[in-house]
Amino acid sequence: MIPLAFLFLVLHVSSSPSSAALDSTYNTFLQCMQKNTKTQPSQLSSIIYSPYSPSYTSVLRAYIRNARFNTTTTKKPLLIVTPTTENHISATVLCAKTLGLRIKTRSGGHDYAGLSYISDVPFVMIDMFNLRSITVDLADQSAWVQAGATLGELYHSIWKKSKALGFPAGVCPTVGAGGHISGGGYGNMIRKYGLAVDYVVDAKIVDAKGSVLDRKAMGEGLFWAIRGGGGASFGVILAYKVKLVPVPQTVTVFKVQRTQDVVTDRLTDFVYQWQQAAPTTNDGLFMRMLIQPVTSKANKGQTTVRSTINAFYLGKADELVSFLAKDFPLLGLKKEDCTELSWIESVLWWANFDNGTSPDALLDRDQNSAIFGTRKSDYVQTPISKDGLELIWKKIAELGKVGLVFNPYGGRMNQVSPTATPFSHRAGNLFKIQYSISWREPGPEADNKYVTQIRSLYSYMTPFVSKNPRSAFLNYRDIDIGVNHFGANSYEEGKVYGYKYFGAANFDRLVKVKTAVDPDNFFKSEQSIPTLPKSA
Ligand SMILES: Cc1cc2nc3c(=O)[nH]c(=O)nc-3n(C[C@H](O)[C@H](O)[C@H](O)COP(=O)(O)OP(=O)(O)OC[C@H]3O[C@@H](n4cnc5c(N)ncnc54)[C@H](O)[C@@H]3O)c2cc1C
Ligand SMILES: *[C@@H]1O[C@H](CO)[C@@H](O)[C@H](O)[C@H]1NC(C)=O
Ligand SMILES: *[C@@H]1O[C@H](CO)[C@@H](O)[C@H](O)[C@H]1NC(C)=O
Repeated sequence: MIPLAFLFLVLHVSSSPSSAALDSTYNTFLQCMQKNTKTQPSQLSSIIYSPYSPSYTSVLRAYIRNARFNTTTTKKPLLIVTPTTENHISATVLCAKTLGLRIKTRSGGHDYAGLSYISDVPFVMIDMFNLRSITVDLADQSAWVQAGATLGELYHSIWKKSKALGFPAGVCPTVGAGGHISGGGYGNMIRKYGLAVDYVVDAKIVDAKGSVLDRKAMGEGLFWAIRGGGGASFGVILAYKVKLVPVPQTVTVFKVQRTQDVVTDRLTDFVYQWQQAAPTTNDGLFMRMLIQPVTSKANKGQTTVRSTINAFYLGKADELVSFLAKDFPLLGLKKEDCTELSWIESVLWWANFDNGTSPDALLDRDQNSAIFGTRKSDYVQTPISKDGLELIWKKIAELGKVGLVFNPYGGRMNQVSPTATPFSHRAGNLFKIQYSISWREPGPEADNKYVTQIRSLYSYMTPFVSKNPRSAFLNYRDIDIGVNHFGANSYEEGKVYGYKYFGAANFDRLVKVKTAVDPDNFFKSEQSIPTLPKSA
């Protein structure tokens, strides 16, 4: 352990790292991998990278999706493994353990805190991008999806086989299946169908012993845990088998924007009515609302607040216009505001592709722009009063950059028990808030300024959101809500973020599963599920 810790220091702190020491770690790891995979070193060297390998940097950068973690001072992996077989992963687990190194697993790299490729301790990063096959079985209306596949690839594979099936997961096509599904991912069919994890029927994982387990072999405890409890605490997820859901031939989308002066109450009435309608209207309709500060000429350069609704409906425009006239009259939706399209076209629309773009664009893995950003989350359980909304508009205008995204719940989410999966935020939640701030200026000053801004709004929102615990969404990773230092109080530290992400009962159950399947806490990271002390 001491030589490795030393090596880690020279790698990150010194300007002239000890390449000899690193070569020796690399060689020891390579030999261990060779022994455990019975593969020639020449083949292994093309899937194992040290910082001195010519393609280390390009491999590392390929799935960094946030410019904040793309700097020279960002903590980097000691080694990167890009497995092409399950056996490579089992061997990586055993060899990392032998060398006293941690593991981080990256699928799509979208973690908002970069936890799939950053760590304070020496680690091996397993990058899953080679393991991305998708097999759609029409007879069974299901699909096996490898962890390294993206959501766009999943939607594309389904569309190729059937125009009548879809899958209720996230709206960003480059998000990875491995992180997204294990974290309880959702998309614009959440009110009709619930979460991606509600459709997982089987899975394959490599555990802390390096064994490959399917649902039957892992047992129902672990199978429960990896449907929303996060994959990183339990092993390396290889694949999920998911049930697909029916989608009609025609779906409808619309986008409506309202900009108002902050001091008028018209936006307030509009958002207040959205709060009543969005979580209770027809389950087939998802109306996401963005609240952003805008500075417009019309308001003489004064900063005001703008609301944008992006909506998706599993049906035709006529029906939608007719029930919204009753449920949300202040929207005043007209048929001309709506676009009818196929489900796969709606996927492209939500991902901001131009009209007419081929679904093949969903296979493009490089569409994210390299910007800086951070996120937080909250749940709203009682409608925010009109006075409260006005205070929030003033605060947003004053801060100037941070915005809120309201994602309505209700529908199917009210029908699934909060303990069916680790994802506890079901009935009783009107909507989830995502706090969102993105910027383009590099450097610690900008970073500090915008992180301070998002924290300030989060703090201001305290009276309006869920309490005891103040809940959060694991997939909107936020390390401000607590981290684990793996000391004597590992469980107490874990509780701080664990109760927020999963609720008390689910967190305690996750801890029990974790203690049973990984008693040595090999798979530990900043916000992982802790184990119970062995003596207890
Ligand atoms: C642009 C953008 C849009 C988004 N849109 C949505 C959305 O619509 N709905 C939604 O629910 N979320 C959304 N998210 C959040 C997203 O679901 C999470 O960030 C998710 O964890 C990303 O998964 P990933 O595989 O891409 O990320 P990664 O960074 O690769 O992984 C995220 C976490 O999962 C772990 N992990 C990844 N793969 C494995 C594996 N194979 N085995 C074990 N552990 C693993 C990582 O170690 C890390 O802790 C979005 C994020 C971004 C950046
Ligand atoms: C990371 O930095 C490299 C080099 O400056 C750049 O080419 C790449 O686009 C950056 N990626 C992200 C996500 O910031
Ligand atoms: C998209 O393009 C088609 C064909 O070019 C056109 O008929 C349709 O109106 C367009 N839709 C939108 C929303 O612009």
